[in-house]
Parts: sequence; structure tokens; C-alpha cells
Amino acid sequence: MARVFSGIQPSGVLTIGNYLGALRHFAIKQETEETVYCIVDLHALTLPKDPDALRLQIRTLAATYLAVGIDPLKSILFVQSHVPEHAELAWLLQCMSYMGEVSRMTQFKEKAEGKESVPVGLFTYPVLQAADILLYDTNIVPVGEDQKQHIELCRDIAMRFNQRFGNVFVIPEHQIPKLGAKIMSLEDPNKKMSKSNPNPASYISLMDEPSVVKKKIIRAVTDTGCEIKDDPEHKPGVANLLTINALCSNRTIAELEALFAGKGYGDLKKDTAEVVVATLSPIQDRVKDILETTELEEALTVGAERARVIASQTLTRVKKVMGLL
Ligand code: AMP
Ligand code: TRP
Repeated sequence: MARVFSGIQPSGVLTIGNYLGALRHFAIKQETEETVYCIVDLHALTLPKDPDALRLQIRTLAATYLAVGIDPLKSILFVQSHVPEHAELAWLLQCMSYMGEVSRMTQFKEKAEGKESVPVGLFTYPVLQAADILLYDTNIVPVGEDQKQHIELCRDIAMRFNQRFGNVFVIPEHQIPKLGAKIMSLEDPNKKMSKSNPNPASYISLMDEPSVVKKKIIRAVTDTGCEIKDDPEHKPGVANLLTINALCSNRTIAELEALFAGKGYGDLKKDTAEVVVATLSPIQDRVKDILETTELEEALTVGAERARVIASQTLTRVKKVMGLL
């Protein structure tokens, strides 16, 4: 069995991009692999956060993991800051990483752009991410397209470490889903759908009400022409709706192209809105129920205990080879 690790930041609402590109696969993976999933709250602190809002976002993200089917008996589900080994290994790895390679990270460049003062933590964020992954002897990291560069950095740091100190770390590989790795904005289908976009019409939140979902999809920017076919280069808007529809309805893109042959964009949008609502409604109901129980706290306590057993062994190994007493 391979060890699988992934994390999501509790920063703002989750979008259907997070679900289709990441969370949905996390739930599938736990059936066949040894899975470890983390709510990366320390990563969320890299940009200013209101403490009350952050607390609520951590709980809501944990509830969302459970609501999409992550089973705390099958997966280790925990909050990053509950396992202090993450921050500690991150420091040790910072001493093994170079300014040059970390400066190349495009997510950092995007997030730092236009800011007068940039937190140091935003810069070293990918090294903390490397610590997350390496602590668990991870083989596979399922993520969306945007995280590929971070996983490559993690591999580089791990290989450098192993070369210097012997085989301490397992070298992980990223795994990007064939369909849904990059769900695009509804407002500009050439850009990634992102919760940090100031215009909520550009994304579907996992918690959007059915009427809101319908309105956003009906207004989604589509392309010139009228044919419904999967052509991301020339018809990025239509291709994006086809992807969302296929993943939510468990149909293939080819099936959808056949179904909508001779029909218009309006038909595709109406059907897509229906399948998205049918996917999100049960998740939303479960999130609301879970937030009202103590099931969540219990699951996270057990998760952190189980995570620590693995993380502390790795950290001990690392400290020893580096020469710490
Ligand atoms: P984040 O919200 O940035 O913590 O991302 C959590 C996970 O969702 C990561 O694996 C991302 O790669 C994935 N993700 C975020 N946005 C999208 C998107 N628009 N399409 C597909 N996957 C995404
Ligand atoms: N940086 C990731 C994101 O923004 C979140 C993350 C933190 C992560 N640590 C991780 C993802 C470890 C995979 C593995 O999406």
C-alpha cells in the first residue's frame, strides 16, 4: 500500500475546484491506500487572518473533509498545528533549502505581487509544505495542477538531504487527476477558479445555495460559436462546463458531447447547474450537521495522536543524522 498525504488551507470558502481537483480524489484514495489528510492551518497564517474567522474556517474545513466522505477510521485526518513536528522539521529543512530555488515559486510571486511588505512565512511556505509531506514517508501527493512546483521543490530538498545524510526521506511524487486538475474561473475561463478572486461570480463555493449556483452557471462566460465540444484552447468556457458537468454527473466528456449535439449553450448550462446542485446539496447538509456535533473534535484529537506517532519517528531520525543531541 502506498502512503498518500495531502493538505488544504483553511483560508476562505472552498470552491468546487478544490472539490473536483482534490477532495473528491482524497475520498477515493482512502479505499485503496494508506491516507493522511491535513488541515494546514499554519499555512493559512502566511497572510493576515482574523482569529475568530480562522477558527471557524478550520472547523468548517474539517467538517467538509468528513462530509465528502473522508472516514477518520480509514484515513488519518488532523490539524497541522496539533502536530508540532511540522514546524520543527520545517526549520531544519529551511537550513537545507536555498533562496534561489524558493524564490522561483510562482505561487509566492503571485501572492507577494503588489504587497508593500511580504511576510517571511509566505516565502518559506513551500518548505513547511515539504515538511508536511516528508514527515509521513509519503509516496503520493494528490493535488491540483497549481501545486506541482511545490512538490518538485519538496523532492529536490529531500534528495539533497538524502545525499548529504543518507536515506532518511522517502521521495514523494505528485499525482494530478486526469480530469479536473484545473477548474477554471466562470468569469474568465483562461484563469484558475480561485477562492481568492474578489468576484464571487467567478467561483462556485461548496456552500453556495442552489439558486446561487444556478445563477452563477447561467451567467458563466462562454465562447463564440454555438457548438458544444471539448476544445479547451478555442472554447475554454464550454470545456470548463463540460469538465465540471462530467465530474459531478459521473458521465464522460464524450457522452456529454453526444448528449448536447445540436443543442445550445443554454442547455449545457441548465444541465450543469442541476448536476452541481445535486452534488453539493448532500455535502452542505452533512457539513451543517457535523458542525453541530462533537464528532469533529473527537475525530481531530484521534487524528493528531495517530499522526504524531509517525511524525515524531521521522523527526527523531532527522535530528539524529543532522547531529543534534
Ligand atoms: P488550496 O485551496 O490552495 O489550499 O488548494 C487545495 C487543493 O485544491 C490543492 O490540491 C489545489 O491544487 C486544489 N485546487 C485549488 N484550486 C483548484 C482548481 N481551480 N482546480 C483544481 N484543483 C484546485
Ligand atoms: N500549498 C497547498 C495548497 O495551497 C496546501 C498544502 C500544504 C499541501 N501542505 C501540503 C498540499 C502538503 C499537499 C501536501 O493547496
